[in-house]
Amino acid sequence: MLGHSASDPEISELEKKFITANLLDVNGTVGVKVSSILGYRLTSLMYSQVNYAGESHQFSAIQLVAMFLGKLRDTAAIELKIPVSDVVIAVPSWYIDVQRRALIDAAQIAALNPLRIINETTAIALGYGITKTDLPDPENPRYVMFIDVGHSNLTATVVAFSKNQLHVKSSASDRHLGGRDIDIALVRHFAEEFKTKYKIDVLSNPKATFRLIASCEKLKKVLSANAESNLSVESIMNDIDASSRLTREQLEGLIAPLLDRVQAPIQKALAAAGLTPEHIDSIELVGGTSRVPAIKARISAIFGGKTLSATLNQDEAVARGATFACAMLSPVFKVREFTYHDIAAYPVKVQWEPTEEEPDPELVVFPAGNTTPSTKILTTARTAPFDIEAAYAEPENLPGAINPWIARATIKGSPAAGDNPTYKVKTRMNANGIVSFEGAYYEEIEEKEDTMEVDAKEVEAAPKKKKVVKKREVPVVTGYTSLEPSILNNMKELEASMHAADKLVKDTEVRFFIRLDKHESDNNDTGP
Ligand SMILES: Nc1ncnc2c1ncn2[C@@H]1O[C@H](COP(=O)(O)OP(=O)(O)O)[C@@H](O)[C@H]1O
Ligand SMILES: [Mg+2]
Repeated sequence: MLGHSASDPEISELEKKFITANLLDVNGTVGVKVSSILGYRLTSLMYSQVNYAGESHQFSAIQLVAMFLGKLRDTAAIELKIPVSDVVIAVPSWYIDVQRRALIDAAQIAALNPLRIINETTAIALGYGITKTDLPDPENPRYVMFIDVGHSNLTATVVAFSKNQLHVKSSASDRHLGGRDIDIALVRHFAEEFKTKYKIDVLSNPKATFRLIASCEKLKKVLSANAESNLSVESIMNDIDASSRLTREQLEGLIAPLLDRVQAPIQKALAAAGLTPEHIDSIELVGGTSRVPAIKARISAIFGGKTLSATLNQDEAVARGATFACAMLSPVFKVREFTYHDIAAYPVKVQWEPTEEEPDPELVVFPAGNTTPSTKILTTARTAPFDIEAAYAEPENLPGAINPWIARATIKGSPAAGDNPTYKVKTRMNANGIVSFEGAYYEEIEEKEDTMEVDAKEVEAAPKKKKVVKKREVPVVTGYTSLEPSILNNMKELEASMHAADKLVKDTEVRFFIRLDKHESDNNDTGP
């Protein structure tokens, strides 16, 4: 949901069918309204209609993600027995600037320090490559295709591996093709069946729908390994125990439209890398939904029936790779030398105010596929301060109706009157896939007497002049989509106080249960 407004079709049409909470706009981005923030927020989020404290609060997607990251932080801290702060967070490779910045804001609200945002399939590739000792020389790299089919999307990424490094060559996704789409197809099938079989309308009842989704997911998993299986949902609604049966063949019939979409992103990634299936040395499957036999068959067909490899940990490959990336950035760990080079997913352009000489100043600075991190110096002839903006060049290819705007900079100061003053503006896409204006300067050319020792023969010639180019930095005022520091701080404080309240409720409840347990064991004490 990060970066989208509630009215974005990506949310209102595509995501909404998987979300039971009431979505609305909170400060321009999608969020939810909940009735109470006192204790057990996540419970109250799930049952957002219940109004037990008479208070209502709205949370933006950034705040919701911060809550989720806070939960992960606590879980990790308990496991590791130390407080957690420095993290590397993996995102889908199709995340755009505003979403990456929003995630960094969310991490900061959760009192985390995000060292790096890494693309999920790049993390997988890193985890794969870092342990390989037999990688070829860079002139003759080994091409591996990683295909991640998870809960909500499918991403295919081509990576070139050579000694101690990897280069992402291309990446393509279907953002709406994953396990949850299979679950929903099954839910619709059984809801229809139960209408006539039990005279109930499951989809009219959120709790019954939720229970049917859970049972369908279970059934789906069983059908990955078996030809047929039973479905049963006890007391689904109106005290009815619902049951049915499905074969794998029937499942494949129900999800035929989804299966027909599996190959497109893979073909697209191959084409973008300029490769054919024969160039691919190994096809590595990850993600829970890559276990579905019909999906494997569609993938395998592209590669002429070549064996697909499932040697990576399908559920944890992303987390493992991100952990390596984090260890590489940490001074505490020594990690084998291995570098990764990612790419820009979408072309980024800059545009600045027109002048007579430059009536339509617009330039694609980072084309799709541009290696990251990357710094580009833009040159423009100017005498006065001016504004410059960065935006995605092809808004129609971005996720949903997301705003393509990235950044603005006002370049201040003016060069001393000269014949041909030119400004240079430093634009950077960093290793997080985030664009910024890093500074600006103008160049002054000074002519100086050359003081170098010269050959005796040349002494008679006129004294040499040497051109010296001097960089004069000018002030730059920038604007990005990240939250303003004061808003970020308020959200951080609110999150910390809600976390403390949650902890209090939880601790009290634990004590309450302990007392109950004790009471029960007193009663049950039938020993001698
Ligand atoms: N054996 C299986 N057969 C079919 N689907 C599975 C199987 N195991 C897990 N899944 C599905 O995989 C999805 C989770 O995959 P995962 O890669 O963990 O998702 P994500 O990384 O997108 O959160 C869920 O939709 C789950 O139902
Ligand atoms: Mg996954």
